[in-house]
Amino acid sequence: MDNIFNAQFIRQNEDLGTVCPVFRKIFWADKKVRKATLSVSALGFYEVHINNQKIGKFVFAPGWTSYRTRLQYQNYNVTKYLEECNTIDIAVGTGRRRHNRKDEELPFLKADEIAVIAALTVEYEDDTIEVITTDKTWECMKSNILYSDIYNGEKVDFTVECEDKFTVKEVPLDKRILIETEGEETREMARLDAAELITTPKGEKVIDFKQEITGYVEWVVPARKGATFMLQHAEFLDKDGNFYTENLRSAKCEIEVTSNGVEQIYKPHFSFQGFRYIKLIGFNDDEIKLENFTAVVVFSDMKRTGFFACGHEDVQQLYENIVWGQRGNFLDIPTDCPQRDERMGWTGDAQVFARTASINYNTQKFFRKWLHDLAADQEENGAVGNVVPAGWYGGGSAAWGDAAIIVPYQMYLAYNDTKIIEEQWESMTNWLKFIETECSEKGRWDKGEHFGDWLSLDAGNEATGGFTDKNLIATAMYAYSTSLLIKMGKVIGKDVSYYEELYPVIVEQYRKNYLNTGKVEHETQTSNVLALYFNLTDDREREAKKLVKDIEECGHLKTGFVGTPYLLHVLTDIGRNDLAYKLLLKDTFPSWLYSVKMGATTMWERWDGMKPDRSFATPEMNSFNHYAYGAVGDWMFSTVAGIRPDETEPGYKHIIFEPRPNKELGYAKARILTKNGEIISSWEYKGEGNLCEFSFTIPDGSHATLYLDDEEYEFVSGTYTTEFEYNA
Ligand code: BGC
Repeated sequence: MDNIFNAQFIRQNEDLGTVCPVFRKIFWADKKVRKATLSVSALGFYEVHINNQKIGKFVFAPGWTSYRTRLQYQNYNVTKYLEECNTIDIAVGTGRRRHNRKDEELPFLKADEIAVIAALTVEYEDDTIEVITTDKTWECMKSNILYSDIYNGEKVDFTVECEDKFTVKEVPLDKRILIETEGEETREMARLDAAELITTPKGEKVIDFKQEITGYVEWVVPARKGATFMLQHAEFLDKDGNFYTENLRSAKCEIEVTSNGVEQIYKPHFSFQGFRYIKLIGFNDDEIKLENFTAVVVFSDMKRTGFFACGHEDVQQLYENIVWGQRGNFLDIPTDCPQRDERMGWTGDAQVFARTASINYNTQKFFRKWLHDLAADQEENGAVGNVVPAGWYGGGSAAWGDAAIIVPYQMYLAYNDTKIIEEQWESMTNWLKFIETECSEKGRWDKGEHFGDWLSLDAGNEATGGFTDKNLIATAMYAYSTSLLIKMGKVIGKDVSYYEELYPVIVEQYRKNYLNTGKVEHETQTSNVLALYFNLTDDREREAKKLVKDIEECGHLKTGFVGTPYLLHVLTDIGRNDLAYKLLLKDTFPSWLYSVKMGATTMWERWDGMKPDRSFATPEMNSFNHYAYGAVGDWMFSTVAGIRPDETEPGYKHIIFEPRPNKELGYAKARILTKNGEIISSWEYKGEGNLCEFSFTIPDGSHATLYLDDEEYEFVSGTYTTEFEYNA
């Protein structure tokens, strides 16, 4: 067991207000060191320096977990940093645990005082071992970080002297919650140069990075002693071209630094923002040089695995926006958004996007950690939190709590991960047990609080819950989750007979109460999509006709978070791939490409985030970096390029190729890196006619079935190219 378990949590004896403390230990290593390992964790975010050198690349360590029961610690090999006389400094900020939101809203994120725990194990060449652990012999100092919070920002004063020493106390926190890092480290993954300096009509000095990112700005603090400089962050300029922050709600997103007269490079320690623009306050004109500002992109260090390219500029931009949406919200946990006073692990959003996310990046480790938190936060009665970690905003809602089953299924499909099925089995079955208690009759989930088809357009733009009957969605999700549980249970050899008997009862309830009843709230695009995608209808043609009729009559999609991920799949499946393409390629409101046309560089939370006249939707709920509608990325890979995993041989052991060329796209090429190697599918129209060249690569250890022009072909690994008259 790591020596961290022999250390004590410590915190300062004095009240330092909002100032971030630094915990210090000085020690001598007077023999030759063979190896030194530092284990560290904190309540709050920490940053460690040994002899003034920053240790590790983990930004916002120790990460965000279900802190009541799980707190990650990190092990760093620090051998090369040790000298004869050593100073370990651990600065701690408020992090995710301490928080500016009201305590009663955040029972598990209560504004606890910060604390730190660490152990340095030094192995000397003479085979002796010395362990230095946090205890009351450490001392504490104030840092020059006067305030730091993920929502409001950070305030640093370089003129402050930090010499005073304070004593520390040991705090008897439960060390059993300590776990080794499970997730991917969040790191600085990319850097973007400042692209343009704008003076807005109001006279504001604004820098445009031309890309919305999550992270922070690294900048040069001018050498003007005592002067205070501020950076504010925003996603968009308003229709007059002025800086717009209203949609951040209560999050201030302000960085404030006071210069000590020495020019120095600064970036926030414990705060991040979601932004494309920054406003500069307190700078003289000659102190604003674009090369002094760099946007640092921070997200979980996952391996990139999916790549998509096509000959349609806007569709290509849409794909880039999907990937940026993922980068912006896969910050240790899957968050809804990175900018306003939320940034929470909303379970609904995560299940909606999990499939696409797992194509773009290898999310296996990322989601495994989060699913463990989901289970850890699950209530006694099986209810799954609407946000994980934290249990904020209650739990037990349809399509949100179903993340408990849908996300492990996606891990199984993408990576053939059966371990996650084993690990989550109890959580998954408990979730279904919970639903059972929410049914007035067996199989009909009609109790509880639900979000519905969140932000769909059928109930008018401002009604967030959409028009589709919430209980219809609940029963449909119940059927879907049960069907996935049966599949997964069989894979790991569980007795699923109970669920096999239950499943037809749920379907029957759905048919009896919600299918083809003639009630308008049962006949929405989303209700038809769910009936078809989840196989709940006894008359596919009837539901297909209704769906097509509605789309053709209004000329656009109306679906929200629940229906959107499946919409295009269903259209393709019912033989209306033409209509699916029409929706994908539509670029007026409402559509995916509408946001692209309006200058989006990430996915928008709502279809109408910005109106055609460039005014904004309600600032109460209007994020420009929400990945849910990016779920269409899955259709781009599986249908446009035509690469699908087969659930009976998952992890792309058996690949299904079924590309659907489209003239407006001209060409498409997708690559997915799998455990077996690289899969490629591409097609390109040759000249004006229908002649199209197809090419497929199947890695060693995989085999494939190709569906093309009503024919079926079997392939072993290799690369194959063919030309073909393709009639869309
Ligand atoms: C979040 C969503 C979330 C929703 C619940 C919002 O405030 O940003 O993405 O799923 O609440 O309906």
